[in-house]
Parts: sequence; C-alpha cells; structure tokens
Amino acid sequence: MEQELIQEVETNSRKKRKDVRMEKEAKKEQTIYDLPGVGAATAEKLMAVGYTDLMSIAVASPAELIEATGMGDAVAKKLIAIARSSLEMGFESGEELLKRREKVIRIKTGSNALNSLLGGGFETGAIVECFGEFGSGKTQIGHALAVAVQSVEKDAVAVYIDTENTFRPERIIQLAKGAGMDTDEALRNIKVARAYNSDHQMLLAEKVEDLIKKQGLNVKLVVVDSLTAHFRAEFIGRGTLADRQQKLNKHMHTLAKLADMYNFCVYVTNQVMAKPDMFFGDPTQAIGGHIVAHASTFRVYLRKGKKGTRVAKLVDSPNMPESECGFYVDESGIKDVE
Ligand code: GTP
Ligand code: MG
Repeated sequence: MEQELIQEVETNSRKKRKDVRMEKEAKKEQTIYDLPGVGAATAEKLMAVGYTDLMSIAVASPAELIEATGMGDAVAKKLIAIARSSLEMGFESGEELLKRREKVIRIKTGSNALNSLLGGGFETGAIVECFGEFGSGKTQIGHALAVAVQSVEKDAVAVYIDTENTFRPERIIQLAKGAGMDTDEALRNIKVARAYNSDHQMLLAEKVEDLIKKQGLNVKLVVVDSLTAHFRAEFIGRGTLADRQQKLNKHMHTLAKLADMYNFCVYVTNQVMAKPDMFFGDPTQAIGGHIVAHASTFRVYLRKGKKGTRVAKLVDSPNMPESECGFYVDESGIKDVE
C-alpha cells in the first residue's frame, strides 16, 4: 500500500515535471533547461527536487542547491547568478502592493476578541502560527477555521494536512451545526491528507498547487497541524539539527510562496519545549527556532487560563501591537469569554 503510494507519487511527479516543461515551452518562457551550462541531467535533478522554474533557483541559496543536487559550490553560485540575471526581479510600487492588500480576506473564528487580536481574523496571504502546550486549543482553532473559511467566499475550500492523526470529521459536524451550515457540504469542502513523515508533509504542501491548478479548487485555507512534530521526531540530536532546519525552511518557503501566489491563509500549529534556563516569564519556547519564527507572519502563543479559558498572546505581527485576549472552546466552536 505504502509502496504503491510512493510509486504513484513518483509517477505523478515525473509527469508533473514533464507537464511543467511542456507548459513553459509552449509559452516560450525560459526554463531551467535554457540556462547556459546546465546539462539535461542536472536540470532533471533540479526539477525532481522542486526547482521547476528560474525564480526558485534565483531565490535559492548555494547551500540548498548543493544539498539538492550534489553540484559543486562554484556551479551552484553561477547557476543562481544566471537565473537572477535572466529574470526580471520585479519591484512593485506601494500602490500596487496596497491594491494586493485589498484582496486580503480575514477568516473569523467565533471569538471577536481572538479575531481582533489578529486585526480582524486569520489573514489570507499570510502564515499564522499558534504555538502552545498540549490542550491549549491549537487543533480546535484549526478545525474551527476549516469550517469558518467556507463562508468567506463562494466555493471556498480548506486543506488540512494532518500529521498527528487528530483531525476529526465528527468535530467538523459539530462546528458546522453550530454555524448553521449543511454538515455534508462542510465535510466535502475540507480536503484532508494524513502526512506520515516530514518528506510526505513537504510533498503534500507542494501538492496544494495541483488542487488549485488542476482541480480548480478555490483553496482559501491550508492547515498544517502540526508543522513541527515530524521534524522534531525525525531529527534528534545536535548533528542533524542543521539538516532539520534546512528542510523546515524549505517547507515554510513553499507554504509562504503558495499563500502569496494564491491568496490563501496558512494556519500552522507548533509545540513548545521547556526552556530550563529561563527564570522569569514563561519558561517555554516554540519548536523550530528562528526559521519558523521568521517565516510566520503572525505568531500567537496559546496557554490555558483560569476556569477552562484559553489565553492567546500575539507575539509577532507586521502591524499589530503585542497584546493578549481570552477565549474558550466549547461544543459549537471558539467563543468569547463572557
Ligand atoms: P496538542 O495537539 O496536544 O499539543 O494540543 P492542542 O493545542 O492541539 O489542543 P486541542 O486543540 O486539541 O485542545 C483540546 C481542548 O479543547 C480540550 O482539552 C478541551 O478542553 C477543549 N474543548 C472544549 N470543548 C470541546 C469540544 O466540544 N470538543 C473538543 N474536541 N474539545 C473541546
Ligand atoms: Mg493538537
């Protein structure tokens, strides 16, 4: 079964590479095959690991290309330089950017306080990270968003990448009922995939583009719950920390790029670990270090509050002040504290 799946994925990705090549050739666009000094074998290798266009190479670091293809340092640097010079690295005016910002949609949970904390809701075009201890409500927020997103636009669809086997259709039914929605339709509009390891998780994130381009789905939310659990479990010990961070970085870049290109919200959950050397404040720290921190547009720290409430603290955001609010989770969803 697993073998079949792998085979299917491999065939698909080979097919995809061919598709991409033919598509670009048809449009007379420059492809990585056009780069001077890049042989067919290297091009194939680059395509196989996701460097399907010049932009992806132009924005890569030499170390990434070396790791992906085994090419030499000089070749990698030259390749990046060529890709950069053959691309128009577009600048946008502030006006154009503002116009793009107008397209941002905010997905609202049932808690006004939580929505306001984020400037009105969970934004499309951004990565919103919630980190916190077990039972702090990260998965519940993911479920609530998967239902709420369906009201933001006609045909809006949620993608749920489930790494911990905690997605529950029964919970979706409860939430949909709470929102007065058709429960079958609510379930139909959530595409769930179980990720079995970090590579699988990364591949699934890339596959979101197929759902949009090939299946024509109007994806407005991608949940990755949990973003870091597989990475954390697979890469233990110092020696492999750099590898882990590099892969995590690539994964975050994929998510950020797609969120921006297709204007959907990425909601990721993250665990915390004890920080034993910390005596003041909260002695916990999010997994993934600065890689995850930098890639997330909004970071929210969740903790358990008094009387079963939850406290959300915005710790990083482009234009909102650091602040916190309470909410609670009940059968019908995420709610304001009375
Ligand atoms: P980990 O994944 O273990 O790190 O935790 P998490 O942050 O994802 O926690 P999760 O979102 O699963 O929070 C579960 C909590 O939501 C429970 O402990 C309950 O206190 C609370 N909750 C309140 N009402 C409900 C409900 O109707 N259904 C469910 N499933 N949970 C509820
Ligand atoms: Mg969870």
